[in-house]
Amino acid sequence: MNVSARITGIGSAFPEKIVTNDDIAAKIAEFGLETDDTWIMERTGIRERRHSDLSNPDEHNSSLGSAAALKALEMAGKSPAEVDQIIYATCTPDTKLPSCACLLQKNIGSTQAWAMDINAACSGFLYGLATAEQFIKAGSSKTILVIGAEVINTIINWKDRTSCILFGDAAGAAVVEPVEADCPHRILSWHMRSDGTLWDLFEIPAGGSTMEVTPEIYEQNLHKVKMKGTEIFKVAVRTLAEFAVTALEANNMTVEDVDWFIPHQANLRIIEAVAKRINCPKEKILINLDRYGNTSAATIPTAFDEGVRDGRIKKGDVLLLDAFGAGLTYGSVLLRW
Ligand code: UT7
Repeated sequence: MNVSARITGIGSAFPEKIVTNDDIAAKIAEFGLETDDTWIMERTGIRERRHSDLSNPDEHNSSLGSAAALKALEMAGKSPAEVDQIIYATCTPDTKLPSCACLLQKNIGSTQAWAMDINAACSGFLYGLATAEQFIKAGSSKTILVIGAEVINTIINWKDRTSCILFGDAAGAAVVEPVEADCPHRILSWHMRSDGTLWDLFEIPAGGSTMEVTPEIYEQNLHKVKMKGTEIFKVAVRTLAEFAVTALEANNMTVEDVDWFIPHQANLRIIEAVAKRINCPKEKILINLDRYGNTSAATIPTAFDEGVRDGRIKKGDVLLLDAFGAGLTYGSVLLRW
């Protein structure tokens, strides 16, 4: 059968603890740094975010991913036993080995699946969707779980006030299944790209195989996020706008044909600048950044899930998903729900 791929279920999960901008200000004051709610709101649009309590096993990355996956499977009307592939996008896995994908497989009992993690940072969920679409089209998988999940509070450098304000923990998941090739409700296109020459705009220098975390490295916080915020901001606006237009042109559509624009949620000013470039009215943009911050690979599936569950996204709506992240990685997916 000539097939296309469709998202048939979507779900999300969050840790309980809310961290407000005032909480962040109090935390960094311990290191002699200052920030405040007004600065964070005006420069980022973030009011609060969630941080996992790692003493609670239910709030580990793989546990949040599992909770989101079960909700997505329930929406799709599928059991965990029917899942034959798991693609787990994260840059903050529970452990380096095994993968979060295998832990999720154990948690939910998808015994017939093969499972792997991918690391494309904030673009991970879209990279995962593109990968899933190809396995579905090849006919080799029938029920794929794509997860975007992070416990990113674990890589925050609390001595860097430009980055520590941004991030939150969350998980989002989608079920991808085959449909007839011309079914209107399908992934219409995907476009992905990376630019490794920009690797140093967002990095964690230590903890991989090139730099062991010694007491000296630990003291310098080199096992935490190191970010060139202003440079990323500019690249993000350019690439998000470019890949949004690429998706629309490939489908002979304009922004008017799009019901919902779901961009990566890194900074409200980035989203507004992109919206201006592509002439997208703000009423069409799904935002959850104000309540959850930048949850990296989880921003797009969690905003998507919220829109579906609160009824804003209706069957037949055209959704434009658009991401950028460390690597650098970029990409867009256009689909009809
Ligand atoms: O998923 C990818 C992850 N990263 C990103 O997407 C980051 C993208 N970049 C951004 O979102 C923004 O560049 C930031 C939010 C990181 C920074 O905003 P900005 O408007 O680019 O500020 P800036 O870095 O140019 O700093 C402006 C001023 C500086 O003070 P001076 O030099 O003008 O006196 C900073 O020291 O704001 C100061 N500043 C702060 N003040 C209060 C920087 N961080 C803070 C803070 N609170 N938290």
